[in-house]
Amino acid sequence: MSDGRALAREFLEQQKLLGGNPVILPALPGGEMRDAGGVAPQPPAPAPPAATHPASRIPHPRLPPAGLSYDPPGGDLFSADPLQQAASLDAVATLVAACTKCRLCEGRRHTVPGEGPGDARLVVVGEGPGRVEDETGRPFVGQAGELLTKILAAIQLRREQVFICNVVKCRPPENRVPQYDEIAACLPYLFRQIDLLKPRAILAMGGTAAQTLLNTKQSLGALRNQIHRFRGIPVIVTYHPAALLRNPNWKKPTWDDVRIARRLLD
Ligand code: URA
Repeated sequence: MSDGRALAREFLEQQKLLGGNPVILPALPGGEMRDAGGVAPQPPAPAPPAATHPASRIPHPRLPPAGLSYDPPGGDLFSADPLQQAASLDAVATLVAACTKCRLCEGRRHTVPGEGPGDARLVVVGEGPGRVEDETGRPFVGQAGELLTKILAAIQLRREQVFICNVVKCRPPENRVPQYDEIAACLPYLFRQIDLLKPRAILAMGGTAAQTLLNTKQSLGALRNQIHRFRGIPVIVTYHPAALLRNPNWKKPTWDDVRIARRLLD
């Protein structure tokens, strides 16, 4: 399934949900997505003055006003994108290993694409690799990872049954929060992984994972304890295990959240 148009539609719908008006798709790698957001699907209209209006901000008069259903007339804009051709999680990981789409590649020792079975029912999404993850190339293997393993055990899941990954696949320096352009560059990998996995549920741990998957700026507190959707897949939001290590008061709400996730799997 390498339908770039479906992907573009998804991005555009997400941008619309975000309240973006007009649609803006900034800072995506290679500019493909940006083009998808701004290029007219119909025969070209007179070119607007590009110097004063970035292409992505020009609402094209022939674009349908609502719904953002988008089918370019000729060919698939993204058919040359190797990520959309990646037919397995391993193939995605191989592309990640060679990725230089953002500055995080400069300081990494290993990429951390994520790991778990291809038929996992649950996908756990964290923020980004930490030190131990960067050293090993494996997600959630440091202290936060140990707590994650316990959290999963509390809902009768072994770590090996779950696909565990992060929003960004390379360690941000000093474990800082990934920046917007880093997330934007890396996000297609996560989206492709989720497309391939087709899980029953996604557990977004921490604000970065939640806000990225749900394309919102709402706080974690406002997002947790309910069921959201990403491309039709239920998303549960809860605290990041590293946050739990700092603040044990969040353990009880975290159990409540992961129990919701558990119910979605059964
Ligand atoms: N924190 C994360 O968000 N991800 C990891 O893989 C490890 C720690």
